[in-house]
Amino acid sequence: MMRGTNNLIGVINFITFLASIPILGGGIWLSSRANSTECLRFLQWPIIIIGITIMVISLLGFVGACYRQTWLLQLYLFVMFLVIIALIGFIVFAFAVTDSGRGQVIVNRSFLEYQLSDYSGWLKDRVSDPKYWSKISSCLRDVHACSGMRRTIRDPATGMILSESADMFSQRQLSPIESGCCKPPTSCGYVYVNETLWNVGAQMFVNDIDCNRWSNDQQQLCYHCDSCKAGLLATLKHSWRKVSIINIVILIILVFVYVVACAAFRNNKRMDNDEAYGETRMTKSRPSRFQF
Ligand SMILES: *[C@@H]1O[C@H](CO)[C@@H](O)[C@H](O)[C@H]1NC(C)=O
Repeated sequence: MMRGTNNLIGVINFITFLASIPILGGGIWLSSRANSTECLRFLQWPIIIIGITIMVISLLGFVGACYRQTWLLQLYLFVMFLVIIALIGFIVFAFAVTDSGRGQVIVNRSFLEYQLSDYSGWLKDRVSDPKYWSKISSCLRDVHACSGMRRTIRDPATGMILSESADMFSQRQLSPIESGCCKPPTSCGYVYVNETLWNVGAQMFVNDIDCNRWSNDQQQLCYHCDSCKAGLLATLKHSWRKVSIINIVILIILVFVYVVACAAFRNNKRMDNDEAYGETRMTKSRPSRFQF
């Protein structure tokens, strides 16, 4: 029976150990992909940290169960408890800071546009803080966050490579970063030349400072626009939600493992005590046997 519960803890921890490998791998893979999420690389850290933690606690539980080390099992249960608390905290935090804001539908456009005023709270304050934003925007520029937008067609008459037409562009789906950072807001009324080149034309009187912030300089674009901050917040919201769903699944599994391990551990301890009593009884009886 005792060996059975130890085996159970051992098997469960072996499984969670195996499960931590793809989690860790996924986190490392995500952080190694070079695209605009590189500026949000810190996002991938939670996954990597979760992967490493699960790996370490599974090892603790596995070794503790195999070698019947009570202190290892105790440490294992304690660390597991901390991890469960931390996970709950992270999930609540992720939902709390990303609960506001969504993209806005624009007439005759397939893509959404993003406005900073739709967002609120801690994360917005963080992202719009000039100190942070200058870092994020220069990162967006350095990783060429907008170069992936380029789409060309071959002119059937002349065989020349041309940019997509304005009509085709308006039918496109854009990521929040592309929509917010790589083109001026539609309300500015600028005329499309290519994805990142717009004819500013006559002076417009639109009540949106982003229209003035827009620059055809391919190093500037709308990286300083509020729409770009909003696009980044939308991206953050999306990825934090995804990470949170993974975390909820992990949390459920961990709570299950924790409950089973706790029950098994208590059982083990009782057995150990029984065994200890048995041994003392035996050692006590031994001298009398060898007295003569
Ligand atoms: C748009 O045209 C400009 C000027 O020719 C060019 O530098 C830029 O790369 C083009 N943008 C895209 C996304 O192709």
